[in-house]
Amino acid sequence: MNGFASPAARAAFIGVLPKAELHLHIEGSLEPEMMFALAQRNGVKLAFSSIEAIRAAYDFSNLQDFLDIYYQGMAVLRCEQDFFDLTAAYLNRAAADGVRHVEIFFDPQGHTVRGVAFASVVGGIARALAEERGITSRLIMCFLRHLPESEAEKTLDEALPFLPFIHGVGLDSSEVGHPPEKFARVFARARSLGLKTVAHAGEEGPPEYVWQALDVLKVDRIDHGNRALEDTALVERIANDGLTLTVCPLSNLKLCVVDDLASHPLRRMLSAGLQATVNSDDPAYFGGYVNANFIAVADALDLNRAEIISLVRNSFTGSFLSAADQARHLAAIDACAAGE
Ligand code: HPA
Ligand code: ZN
Repeated sequence: MNGFASPAARAAFIGVLPKAELHLHIEGSLEPEMMFALAQRNGVKLAFSSIEAIRAAYDFSNLQDFLDIYYQGMAVLRCEQDFFDLTAAYLNRAAADGVRHVEIFFDPQGHTVRGVAFASVVGGIARALAEERGITSRLIMCFLRHLPESEAEKTLDEALPFLPFIHGVGLDSSEVGHPPEKFARVFARARSLGLKTVAHAGEEGPPEYVWQALDVLKVDRIDHGNRALEDTALVERIANDGLTLTVCPLSNLKLCVVDDLASHPLRRMLSAGLQATVNSDDPAYFGGYVNANFIAVADALDLNRAEIISLVRNSFTGSFLSAADQARHLAAIDACAAGE
């Protein structure tokens, strides 16, 4: 028994639970409609002739397939207003899913390489985050791991005047061939500046990359982490350290990290004592925002009430919110669960 009368009752419960989203690339929330509108506004030529053609191109067999299209798509983002509009649209969508707190990734190198000012990127995102919507936020600047560490160092230099708006650094883009240790120095400097650290690891890369994220980068959280399950000593380490994994079911499906959601490792992670969470990664590209991720994986694995409550609790305890704020959100989850 999963504790619900029907899948629809479970979906309704998921819908009303307060939740935090900890793994969301703001550039990955660029819906085809906005991509088209911004291309027109900014006079950027798109490789696609229609919104349907864009959606049809979202058929990926691995991470790199997706990244090639993702970097093309973000070319329509040119000025501060574009980053504001993008972020505001995501926040409005997240609010409808019961998201109360969000920790947003952005990829400054994907923009500065095209001549977009760092200030326009951070300024537009931060202006939208500052609007009152009942959602608190943190901003995490990712380094593109396919580029040299020296480029990440320059990006951290550029970020220095904006550190009041930036809470942490992360590591994303093409994983295999770009191990976390490549970024040991820039992560050490980020930590010395008081920034939190996270890294994508074990999405396509081997368990060794997750070990490096922990031991070399000393991360506060692991993004994805699916392949950690291949190494029992690593699972024990992550469980003992109480580290949170930001898991992204529909992303894993679209990028062929899993063959189908019925074989998704989410339940195995929870059973192994790992603090897993559910997130949307790049919702415009992967077919759904956070509730769609929750519902799809809950249906495929027949997640029960206790598992769903654990997942939303983990989303707050794994966040960079203060202990007092986390406690407030956990109490709201308890109240919501009791009211059912
Ligand atoms: N993995 C790595 N890099 C990314 C992703 C992802 O899922 N999304 C955006 N950049
Ligand atoms: Zn990601």
